[in-house]
Amino acid sequence: MQAVALYRSSIGKKALMAVTGLIWIGYVLMHMYGNLKAFQGSVYFNEYAEGLRSLGAPVFGHLHLLTIARIVLVVAILVHIWAAWSLFVAAREARPASYASRRVVQANYASLTMRYGGVVILLFVLFHLAHLTWGISPVHPDYIRGDAYHNLIVGFRSLPVVILYLIALAALALHLYHGTWSMFQTLGINDHNWDGTFRALAWVLAIVIPVGFAVVPLAIQFGLILE
Ligand code: HEM
Repeated sequence: MQAVALYRSSIGKKALMAVTGLIWIGYVLMHMYGNLKAFQGSVYFNEYAEGLRSLGAPVFGHLHLLTIARIVLVVAILVHIWAAWSLFVAAREARPASYASRRVVQANYASLTMRYGGVVILLFVLFHLAHLTWGISPVHPDYIRGDAYHNLIVGFRSLPVVILYLIALAALALHLYHGTWSMFQTLGINDHNWDGTFRALAWVLAIVIPVGFAVVPLAIQFGLILE
């Protein structure tokens, strides 16, 4: 009976992880696409940054829809972390003393990647907000409030900062791959006939999103985008 209850509650938490993960996938996809406006110059980019603040106008007031989106993102990440943590604790309590099969070792590799990768991504997001949104990071030498394009270009002239972003994007790639794959399984659509398609989709997301993000700092670092 206890095992059934544990199984049920773990399915609920995995479903929460899938839904909150999906919210963030939607966000990073749009964010990555929006960042590519950096290739169109400062006017386009700053208009886009400003446009985000007046999203939904005239129905929504200035910053209203953006604030709602921010609340949804924060709640989603908190629920995602809480569910991950409680699944981890439940798995640790239920784990047999030793590993018997290779399958278990493989599953363990994926969950380890997810766990540590998730922590790296969380730390990255906090650093990233300090760097480009709050402008409080000591690594940004010349933050000007309201000039997103300037902050972007100056921010990525630093090679260590670009390397840091690339490391975070590698962690994001792995997280997206394993996460998307588990999401499909959790949502109960892991019909084996579809395995190939789901794997392919997980690969596409894990490549397109981090590469789409990486091209902007790299282009700035190589002098392809200038202020
Ligand atoms: C090379 C990669 C990235 C670049 C160049 C970039 C650039 C930016 C810029 C320019 C802003 C807006 C700053 C402003 O307020 O004017 C921003 C905000 C933000 N970014 Fe990124 N970003 C990158 C990757 C990521 C990733 C991978 C994530 C999430 C995993 C992320 C999450 C966010 C969040 C949550 C915000 C705050 C949005 C808001 O509340 O307005 N970013 N980013």
